[in-house]
Amino acid sequence: MSRSVITGTGACIPERILENKDFEQNRFYDEKGRPLTDNTELIIEKFRKITGISERRYVPEGINTSDIAAEAGNQALINSGIDPETLDQIVVAHNFGDVTHGSLQSQNVPTLASRVKHILGIARPECIAYDVLVGCPGWVHSLIQSHAWFKAGMAKKVLLIGAETLSRVLDFSDRDSMIFGDGAGACVLEYKDSPDDGPGILGTCAQTHSQNEFDFIDMGRPYKGADNSSSYFMKMKGRKVYEYALKHVPSAMKLCLDQAGVDIGNISKILIHQANEKMDEEIVSRLYALYGIEQSPPGIMPMSIQWLGNSSVATIPTLYHLILKGQMPEHAFRPNDIIVFASVGAGMNINAVCYRV
Ligand SMILES: CC(C)(COP(=O)(O)OP(=O)(O)OC[C@H]1O[C@@H](n2cnc3c(N)ncnc32)[C@H](O)[C@@H]1OP(=O)(O)O)[C@@H](O)C(=O)NCCC(=O)NCCS
Repeated sequence: MSRSVITGTGACIPERILENKDFEQNRFYDEKGRPLTDNTELIIEKFRKITGISERRYVPEGINTSDIAAEAGNQALINSGIDPETLDQIVVAHNFGDVTHGSLQSQNVPTLASRVKHILGIARPECIAYDVLVGCPGWVHSLIQSHAWFKAGMAKKVLLIGAETLSRVLDFSDRDSMIFGDGAGACVLEYKDSPDDGPGILGTCAQTHSQNEFDFIDMGRPYKGADNSSSYFMKMKGRKVYEYALKHVPSAMKLCLDQAGVDIGNISKILIHQANEKMDEEIVSRLYALYGIEQSPPGIMPMSIQWLGNSSVATIPTLYHLILKGQMPEHAFRPNDIIVFASVGAGMNINAVCYRV
């Protein structure tokens, strides 16, 4: 039977490392514009303890989101071995478009996918290029969407990229700015013959909660000097996001497994959006609790948050690529392993994909 199979992966991890100590000169403020009373070193130490983040990556000044998207996409194309001119679609998941250094303006025309198509020199007009904006779950959404295009018989080969340069939209007077980083990850997804127990997407789940939750992650004035600023930055009601994620992500993952007809005992890895180490551990342990299992298996959840922070849409494809390429030696995929991708973010959106490697 035909299945949606990942046949190549790539990632662009910017070389510039920002360690937590690089924030020591910052002065942080609360949402009402009052300076925080704790000294910055203490805030940073508390931050590391709550989130597990020690460092993150930022792009250099002359590089934009579409550049790192193209780099990751090109790697995925090379690793898949396909002729780029046979692609039916290029899809870029992001949230802010290209934001050039020193400006706060999102540039979304033309789409990042069109920019990537241009950079990669792909000519065929039938290869359509478009973006998806679904918050941090955008890349997983692009998998789900492509799976549906495939099943409708409207595409067979797509390049799916998640890319973001959050460093361009952060308010550095807000301590939550330390959470985020830049990056891009990509895969080639093909609809191809695969044996009954062969690789491919087995099930999916997607949800949007936009009642009370819609503004848990949104745009807002900077904490310092809001009155004199007409600029908007990414803002997060962190505690609310945390509680929301614990409440809804485990059941969404279970719905995905139910749809796939896969028992939790057959899952080898869970590649979850890297937003907060403790939060992710709790989500996974609540997923197992839904099956009456007290403890999640050790090593089930590979983490990159310690050194990459939260790179939004780039996180999951980058994690998958790193494991596949043996760059996270304590984690590996064996043939026929069944894994889960799961993500949560602005919208609020949640999604999951069950995939056999
Ligand atoms: C933002 C976040 C790190 C805050 O952690 P938290 O434990 O919820 O924080 P709380 O507001 O309950 O405050 C707990 C303590 O941490 C401190 N704190 C909160 N945010 C902090 C930050 N960014 N840096 C340092 N300290 C922080 C508070 O001052 C408080 O300190 P106290 O105990 O001395 O009073 C956490 O809520 C989080 O990671 N949320 C989810 C983020 C997420 O999933 N984002 C998805 C985006 S796609």
